[in-house]
Amino acid sequence: MATFLVTGGCGFIGSHLCAGLAAQGHGIRVLDDLSTGSEANLVPGAELLRGNVADPDAVRDAMAGADGCFHLAAIASVERGVRDWLATHRTNLSGTVAVLEAARPRGAGGVGPAGGTPVVYASSAAVYGDCAALPLDEDAPTRPLSAYGADKLGCELHARVAGAVHGIPTLGLRFFNVFGPRQDPRSPYSGVISIFCDRLSRGERVDVFGDGGQTRDFVFVGDVVAALVAALPAASSTAPVLNVCTGRSTSVLELAAAVAGLSGRGLDLRHQPARSGEIRHSLGSPERARRILGLGPPLGLSEGLASVLSWMRSKAAGSAGG
Ligand code: NAD
Ligand code: UD1
Repeated sequence: MATFLVTGGCGFIGSHLCAGLAAQGHGIRVLDDLSTGSEANLVPGAELLRGNVADPDAVRDAMAGADGCFHLAAIASVERGVRDWLATHRTNLSGTVAVLEAARPRGAGGVGPAGGTPVVYASSAAVYGDCAALPLDEDAPTRPLSAYGADKLGCELHARVAGAVHGIPTLGLRFFNVFGPRQDPRSPYSGVISIFCDRLSRGERVDVFGDGGQTRDFVFVGDVVAALVAALPAASSTAPVLNVCTGRSTSVLELAAAVAGLSGRGLDLRHQPARSGEIRHSLGSPERARRILGLGPPLGLSEGLASVLSWMRSKAAGSAGG
């Protein structure tokens, strides 16, 4: 049994990861400022340290005694990075440097294992930007189109430095579009699947930004947790990065139709201006991650959507009852 630090452990992906680690009997410490996450998501038995991941003292205290760190705390919205450039940068890049700093080997200011605390961190498909050669494998050029993507690429560069200069083992996972239960549908910055499932299942209209022909590679959160857990033993001072995706492409219009079909309601949509800084097509190759991490086949989109809809129904029933 080990003890792991999970930054962002009260968020969507982080809370699923904590549940997976707890099921394996591990101890969990969460560092989260609860800005987009919720204490209600905290896994029973986990220790919550409420603090800012960009605060080096808070991160050092949180890392003390941990056998490994999963670094997920970030402002996950591409759109918010357009509006709050500097604030998102502080969290998304300075926060990662603070985590890597705290993971340094003992004797060099670090607080963890002698070789440095292994760190698995969330990068993003946004690092590829406007790269047109699809599907994207990990050797594709990185040309971010957003501040968010630029900061995630910065995380990967600092992870290389962490390995080369300080010997810290890391592994970066380039998540594509993650979806699943517990993704908050009510914020304008939520992922498209949670918004569409929430609105369409209540018979409300959805907004499609642009013509709806833009495509994404939607990966279920359970598959992301499997990748995170498998990644820790593969962390290395060579700072590898791997895609977490399905290799399946779905347009926003196809998604809206699929959700409407599964929720048994009509499809009511209106087109709105396209978002700025948007990638048109995002599709990843999952092959390298499958090989290196030994991952199984991903959950199908329909099964994943059904699981989100069912979670939303039980949540609605719970709040109506209590
Ligand atoms: P989320 O917003 O649900 O979770 C982020 C968590 O980090 C929240 O609990 C939030 O309160 C916390 N947090 C934010 N700023 C913080 C700060 N300054 N200090 C401490 N805690 C802070 O988002 P998510 O979808 O679970 O994303 C998790 C990670 O995965 C992020 O790094 C995100 O960039 C990355 N990612 C997500 C997706 C996706 O499709 N959801 C895709 C690619 C990468
Ligand atoms: C998402 C993640 C980001 C991650 C990236 C990796 C979220 C909030 N963002 O960004 O963290 O790094 O994937 O690929 O999970 N759309 C609509 N109507 C809506 C909402 C969205 O048409 O109401 C469209 C958007 O314009 C976009 C697509 O749906 O084309 C996906 O949007 P969104 O879910 O916000 O994700 P990304 O911007 O791709």
